[in-house]
This record gives sequence, structure tokens and C-alpha cells, in this order.
Amino acid sequence: MRVIVCENYEEMSKAGARIFAAHVLLYPEAVLGLATGSTPVGLYRELCRMCKAGEIDFSGITTFNLDEYYPISPENPQSYRYFMNENLFDHVNIDKSRTHVPSGMATDPAAECAGYDRQIRAAGGIDLQLLGIGLNGHIGFNEPDGILTTGTHVTALTESTIEANSRFFDSREEVPTRALTMGMETILHARKIVLLANGTAKHPAVKQLLDNTITTHMPATLLKVHPDVTLICDREAYEG
Ligand code: PGA
Repeated sequence: MRVIVCENYEEMSKAGARIFAAHVLLYPEAVLGLATGSTPVGLYRELCRMCKAGEIDFSGITTFNLDEYYPISPENPQSYRYFMNENLFDHVNIDKSRTHVPSGMATDPAAECAGYDRQIRAAGGIDLQLLGIGLNGHIGFNEPDGILTTGTHVTALTESTIEANSRFFDSREEVPTRALTMGMETILHARKIVLLANGTAKHPAVKQLLDNTITTHMPATLLKVHPDVTLICDREAYEG
């Protein structure tokens, strides 16, 4: 795992954005895997700025997001579809029909998940995947457990994740308790992975990501078997 330690959130965001911008420049028809949460907001802001300045072109880019709450409407401001439109898609010249987020409205969520994996395969797989990391080491909504799932699937959120995400909702009761998420195999099949982490609260997770152990009870540790992962973190997440 390559590790880039930045002084602060702004620098981390710019370092991550440079990698995504370089990839978009080199491969104008690339397939990007995208993430939500507070961590990638600065990276997306930087990509929007570069696109507005004419430095990068998203017209041929395809995207697949990691996950979506279930059930949730795309019009709900807490949905990940809404987040992606607000933070990236509405501000760059991407063709929205090439942007994919699992549907939080699917009547048959299992079929939606199987279809999502088929769409990723049909697009040629994910070239560059962006990840955040949960306080409990989850990636996407692959929560700590004895057994993890390979492909995109329906999952229950852990108490820790419901608690962490309740800051975005009016009350804890409004946080959906389920989600559709890419599985560990879907994520590990991405050709390149960039994981961002900032703030002291993420230090324990980052520390475990950098030791020499792997456990499904800390799903991010499975990234250690991937040949091309870059961790970009700020000093707080790195040193605690
Ligand atoms: P955060 O979430 O960016 O809001 O900290 C990260 C995650 O849960 O993957």
C-alpha cells in the first residue's frame, strides 16, 4: 500500500483530486468508482473546479457509486444519489446516464444488486475506485462481521454506522437501517484504489490498515491483498 501523508484536509483532497484528474486525462473513457460521506467532499470540489477551468473533461467518463441507503428516494437530500448530484455530477460535464448509484427505490433489491454487478462487468470493470473508511473499518457498507459478501448486496447497517451517520439526519430514527452496497469482491476487482482518511477519529482504523493483519472484522484490512492501493490521509489520521 502506498501512503501519502498530507498536512490537512485541503491538501489531502487536492492530492486525491490530482490522481483522479490524471486518470481522467489519460483515460477519457475511464470507469470510476465513487464514494460518499464527508471525506470526499473536498476532492469533488477540486474536480469541479478543474472541470470548470477546462482542465478535465468528464464527457466520456462512466461512474459507479459504492452504495445507497435502502429504502430511500433519490430526491431525499440524504440519499447518496442526491449527494453525488450536489457534490459532483451537477457541476461537471458528465453524461448523467453514465452515472450509476444503486437504486434505493428498487422493488426487488436483490435483483437490483445482481444487475449492478452485471452493469459494472459490462462497462469493463472499475478502473479507479475512491474509498472512505468508517470508524469501524467498513468500506462501502461492508460492515465488520465474521463473514463478508462478495458481490453487491443488501445489508443491515451496524449501530456504530447508524450512530455516525445520524449527524446528517434530523434524528437517529430517520437513518435507514439497510443499504445496497458493492461487496468486497466488487471493490477488490477495481484496478486501482484510492482511500482517503482524515481526522483523529479515523486514526485507529488507519493504524490497523497499516499493520500486518487482515480480518473481516475490519473490512478495510482486506485491501492489503490488493496490488494497487494508495492511502491518502492527513497527519491527524496518520499519527492520532
Ligand atoms: P465519512 O464516512 O467520510 O463521512 O467519515 C466514511 C465512511 O463511512 O466510509
